[in-house]
Amino acid sequence: MDKPVKLGLLGLGTVGAGVCRILQQNREVIYKRAGTPFEIAKILVRDPEKQRGIEVDPRLLTTDAADILEDPEIAVVIELMGGLEPAYQYIHTALDKGKHVVTANKAVIASHGARLIRLAASRGVDLYYEGSVAGGIPIIKPLRESLVGNRIEEIMGIVNGTTNYILTRMTQEKADFTDVLAEAQALGYAEADPAADIEGHDAAHKLVILASLAFQTPISTHEVYCEGISKITAEDIAFAEHFGYTIKLLAIAKRQPKGIEARVHPTFVPNRHPLAAVHGVFNAIFLRGDAVGELMFYGRGAGDLPTGSAVIADIVDVLRNRKRGSHHRVETLWQSIPVEAMEDVRTRYYIRLHAVDRPGVLAQVAANFGAEGVSIESMIQQGRGQDQPVPIVFITHEVEERQMRASLARIATLPSIKDIANVIRVEGGLR
Ligand code: NAP
Ligand code: HSE
Repeated sequence: MDKPVKLGLLGLGTVGAGVCRILQQNREVIYKRAGTPFEIAKILVRDPEKQRGIEVDPRLLTTDAADILEDPEIAVVIELMGGLEPAYQYIHTALDKGKHVVTANKAVIASHGARLIRLAASRGVDLYYEGSVAGGIPIIKPLRESLVGNRIEEIMGIVNGTTNYILTRMTQEKADFTDVLAEAQALGYAEADPAADIEGHDAAHKLVILASLAFQTPISTHEVYCEGISKITAEDIAFAEHFGYTIKLLAIAKRQPKGIEARVHPTFVPNRHPLAAVHGVFNAIFLRGDAVGELMFYGRGAGDLPTGSAVIADIVDVLRNRKRGSHHRVETLWQSIPVEAMEDVRTRYYIRLHAVDRPGVLAQVAANFGAEGVSIESMIQQGRGQDQPVPIVFITHEVEERQMRASLARIATLPSIKDIANVIRVEGGLR
């Protein structure tokens, strides 16, 4: 009988507890699949007295990371703390000391992934991060292995469970933004600082990871255009319904002739597109490869057990490799493709503005769109304002972002325009 391989867990919060629960629940089958016995030898936490709703031997808990990182008996480190620091330093130290690492930390992988992957390769150990994107959905492994015969042309994903949960509840139950955010936090979906979810940064981190793998080029988070959902109102949701769309926070990466588009923003998705039917904490990644065509990966994008499922899969991969005396080949970022400026992106737009309801106002607005080459696909004006501002909503044909910005800058100066209340991009034409 082999000696059990010792694992060290950094963090026992939502995901860490999920990992422990799955190991307790499915112990026998996981051991068999791993082909080797293993045990959690130490767990790093901040507060050992905290109630965690899970049975853990209190002797395993420590507040000193060195108990894991400096223990030569611990062969695999599982980082589930979150945040950039000290998580990055701990992962770096573990790899440097020849330990395999499994992490669900998208902030660290998006910011330092290339460096850590090189370090892992130089030490002959594995670095796996399936749980870092879209919770329980297997997507890193398919991109790294199953789809390598393809040129990936585009990825469009709902990759943040918290914002999808909020938008779904706002759409289906007319729920209030703040109440639903509190629920998402209570369910363990939100990041420690929920602004990372709401402002789109978490989705941007995940897009960096996906796009780097899909296009084999390094992309950094600051190159991703990023807009969150905090400006979405009940009015926008109602107008989306009126036009046959659903609002989703999408992470989008597309291969274009001159570079790669990489952007995260709220998006009008046509109701007939499969992404429009992804509700609640569910995530989905829709991609197009030149050989495979359209594919969609769907599942729970956050939460203890779904994310724990992805983490356990990585642990089992590490243990299988270790038993064979091998480690995973390193994905190569062998190209250097520029990321396009947002002004160069071509898409369609929803624009909601408030205008004084007087004869000639619509003609003025239309003339200013026309002057910058923006063509209108549909439009509605609601109510009669009796000299009060009324909402006017436009959906445009495809146009460059720079043209849209120029036309809106002109329109904003018209005396009859009270405000440009919201501008939301429209995506999801199926071929
Ligand atoms: P969490 O509930 O906040 O848990 C974090 C854990 O790490 C806690 O046990 C905490 O200890 C410990 N910890 C944090 N900083 C520490 C420090 N400086 N020293 C010692 N211990 C520290 O976080 P989570 O939701 O499980 O997320 C963990 C990671 O998984 C993050 O990278 C997150 O982005 C990622 N992720 C989360 C989800 C999800 O649904 N939650 C899904 C996919 C990926 P105490 O318990 O003592 O405070
Ligand atoms: N806060 C993240 C989300 C957790 O809501 O999707 C999963 O990565």
